[in-house]
Amino acid sequence: MTTRLFHISDVHFGVENRAALAEVARAVAEERPDAVVCTGDLTQRAKHSEYAAAAEWFAALGVPVVLEPGNHDMPYYNPWERFTDPFRRYNRLRQTVPGGFVSEDVVLVPLLTTVSAQTRFPWSDGVIRPPALAATLAQLAALDGDPRTIIVTAHHPVLGKDDTGPNPTIGGDAAFAALAEAGAHAIMSGHVHVPFDEVRSRGGHSARMIGAGTLSTRLRHGAPPSWRVITVERGGVIATELRTAGAAAVT
Ligand SMILES: [Fe+2]
Repeated sequence: MTTRLFHISDVHFGVENRAALAEVARAVAEERPDAVVCTGDLTQRAKHSEYAAAAEWFAALGVPVVLEPGNHDMPYYNPWERFTDPFRRYNRLRQTVPGGFVSEDVVLVPLLTTVSAQTRFPWSDGVIRPPALAATLAQLAALDGDPRTIIVTAHHPVLGKDDTGPNPTIGGDAAFAALAEAGAHAIMSGHVHVPFDEVRSRGGHSARMIGAGTLSTRLRHGAPPSWRVITVERGGVIATELRTAGAAAVT
């Protein structure tokens, strides 16, 4: 048996790439993946209108949707709400998208890397706070002995883009080692708007890092809009196929 996931990320409703989204929706209708997984930055400024557009698009897919919040998904123009209830709008969206993803091949375990404030600028980079990591590790511990492939879903890549440069995600190196040691086969993420798929190691433990790119008009480093098809079998067997959207983005 295999389970097929469409991994999308950084849709940024408000500055979304309508042509790229139409391509993804068409592929969903034709290929009927078991789930669409979006690793955050659903909106550009977390406006109600942007969340409404996101809700409409995700609901129309007609397959289970798995979401993770990104740094853009907390209120930007309403600091009170940002600090008192940063995920209220996101959680409301989550209740409207089709749920129910369960697989005999793969388990998706969330890791929160998004915080409403931190002691550095910009606030957009990832932070893995001890309670967030503990919550994910507790879920991984409960899966001990489970034959299914285990994939952690996060918004920010847990490691920097290579092993020689800095890691913009605070706590990321230690988190990666702990997640891999706890049995995570892969970590899916977004945020950087550039796709990647590579095996990385920390502390003697390895796991795959898979990034989807963006479906917004905020293109970076010359990477076109993209998403990824991830086919999973039990036991850590993961095949991926990167797809780029053909239409030129408007910036
Ligand atoms: Fe982001």
